[in-house]
Amino acid sequence: MSRIVYVNGRYLPYGEAGVHVEDRGFQLADGVYEVFEVRGGRLVDESRHMARLGRSLDALSISRPMSARALGHVMRETVRRNHVSDGMVYLQVTRGEARRDFVFPDPAPQPTIVVIARRMDLTKANARVEKGIAVVSRPDIRWGRCDLKTTMLLPAALAKQSALEAGAQEVWFVDREGYVTEGGSSNAWIVTTAGTVVTRATDNHILGGVTRLTVLDLLAAEGVPVEIRPFKLSEATSAREAFITAATQIVMPVVRIDGQVVGSGEPGPVARHLRNNFHSKAEIA
Ligand code: PDD
Repeated sequence: MSRIVYVNGRYLPYGEAGVHVEDRGFQLADGVYEVFEVRGGRLVDESRHMARLGRSLDALSISRPMSARALGHVMRETVRRNHVSDGMVYLQVTRGEARRDFVFPDPAPQPTIVVIARRMDLTKANARVEKGIAVVSRPDIRWGRCDLKTTMLLPAALAKQSALEAGAQEVWFVDREGYVTEGGSSNAWIVTTAGTVVTRATDNHILGGVTRLTVLDLLAAEGVPVEIRPFKLSEATSAREAFITAATQIVMPVVRIDGQVVGSGEPGPVARHLRNNFHSKAEIA
């Protein structure tokens, strides 16, 4: 079955879809993106993803290519045409095509929109949860606007590749003071020996995860104590549990950090519970 990709108003076969060689997303990473989880063919936490997309676009002065409602329609149609039941949908918006220059083209070009829907193997993901993942730490060499979901992902790609080569499945970035900022493509959490769930506050140094917000809602609804503060690697390795959150991971237990075992070395009950109950709190439409 050929996969269908949406590009600038057209649904095209995967192999034939493309953007212009002078698209500013290609030359300058002048674009933003969102990744939505798809469950049972429906979009998870669409409103929050759309709100964040709007913030990223506004911060870069890229005009909104269409309403959030119309974008939602395009995403659902791409999901439908690809027969995706459980998986993800990727939405990218760039400033568009223009002769290469650093400053913004004037007049502004039409933004480029790309939507790709992909299946994910839930059985494989669940098997991963049973084992938990290993993370390794790396210095956070990214820029000062990690709150924007831009396609400028080379530092994350390099760090995640080096994690893979070190036998780990994710990287945890660490700032100059030794605090964990976030994962290469996820937010970072721990559960203290007292049972308090800890994750750092959102600021310019991390992406405000949509999954993070929904997990915080779930924790609040269940009356679980939460502390919004940064933590260091030493606190994480002596924690009872650690986990990451992201649209493509939901909640994934972390059982090793830089080779050191976390808690019992097995996925913990808090992470498992949050994963199992996540969709009861998420918006699914
Ligand atoms: N990444 N932090 C970073 C740097 C991320 O790239 C992501 C998500 C998150 C979690 O955000 P959310 O819960 O909204 O997915 C945090 C996506 C999944 C990606 O780039 O593939």
